[in-house]
Amino acid sequence: MSHEPTASQRASRKDEHLDLAIRLHGQDRTGAFDDVSFIHHGLPGISAEQVDIGTTVLGSRWEVPFYINAMTGGTRATAAINSDLAEAAADAGVAIACGSQHVALHDPERVDSFSVIRRRAPGAFVLANVGPTVGPEEAMRAVEMLQADALQIHLNAAQEMVMPEGDRDFTGWSEAISAIAAAVTVPVVVKEVGFGLSRRTIGALAHTGVAAVDVAGSGGTDFIAIENERRPRRDLSYLVGWGQPTALCLLESLAVDDPVDLPVLASGGVRNPLDVVRSLALGACAVGASGHFLRTLVKEGPEALRQELHTWSEHVRTLMTLLGAPDVSQLRRTDVLVTGRTAEQARALGVD
Ligand code: FNR
Repeated sequence: MSHEPTASQRASRKDEHLDLAIRLHGQDRTGAFDDVSFIHHGLPGISAEQVDIGTTVLGSRWEVPFYINAMTGGTRATAAINSDLAEAAADAGVAIACGSQHVALHDPERVDSFSVIRRRAPGAFVLANVGPTVGPEEAMRAVEMLQADALQIHLNAAQEMVMPEGDRDFTGWSEAISAIAAAVTVPVVVKEVGFGLSRRTIGALAHTGVAAVDVAGSGGTDFIAIENERRPRRDLSYLVGWGQPTALCLLESLAVDDPVDLPVLASGGVRNPLDVVRSLALGACAVGASGHFLRTLVKEGPEALRQELHTWSEHVRTLMTLLGAPDVSQLRRTDVLVTGRTAEQARALGVD
């Protein structure tokens, strides 16, 4: 059963998501990232000046190894958020994704709330965002709307299940992803929305022609919690916490046995520069955060977000220096300890 929402229903949902993502913070579960620690060595042997925090993503050089991940657009309030996010991203040399553009594909008056990102961040690496239910022609329009450098396709089955007006038909997504990847002129990244990509899912995506995956695991923004708040009886609270945490997804992604060897981006529950460095050490080529940057912007203002992005860059450099890693690839050679529940789950999955 599918209930196709109107453009204005979709748009007001965006405002509700923003409010709930901010309000429900603090109910975040303990981070699996805390199960990942580095062995400290007393002779790092390098200086901060030598450290290159840049990374290569989808064939492009990013000066900074973290990015503002997909969130919003479609309404007056979310246009202002996108404008502020984009200005901060441009100032700090950070890549930025927009939220799902479906609402603008159906209603041209809403295009500006997304394209503002490109206007405010003309030189940034910008990612467009659609779900696997759009056709290739719509996907291309989403890319053109932002003159985007890449396209994210979000997999949000768990969210749809809990969304009162959500989709209940998940057939044909792999085929749709292949069709979009074949049609668009920019690289395609398939991402989750906070429930994690499993080894099996990544293995399947490797055959669709996409350029990379973003595991977008649990531990941060929880769309089951958010959508449950929008249900009249809030009767699905028992599903909160569904999915695999980002650290576990990264461990599993290292074990994907596929000749395509898709590059992996990490996001979901990233709280600070140490989580960024942990994710890079576990094989991610770049690391996204949504909830943290959104809360910084909404609670403390645009200048605080700008500062925060610069602080994260500085701290990533400091941590890499401490770890003796002159570049991101060398972080993968650091000595990482995985303990606790994450180690136990990795063992159960046969990826320790
Ligand atoms: C999101 N996220 C998201 N993802 C996506 O691909 N398309 C979208 O439209 C949205 N919308 C959205 C709205 C809001 C308010 C938030 C906070 C998040 C999901 C996001 O990109 C990310 O995968 C998850 O939020 C997990 O990361 P954090 O928030 O734990 O850093």
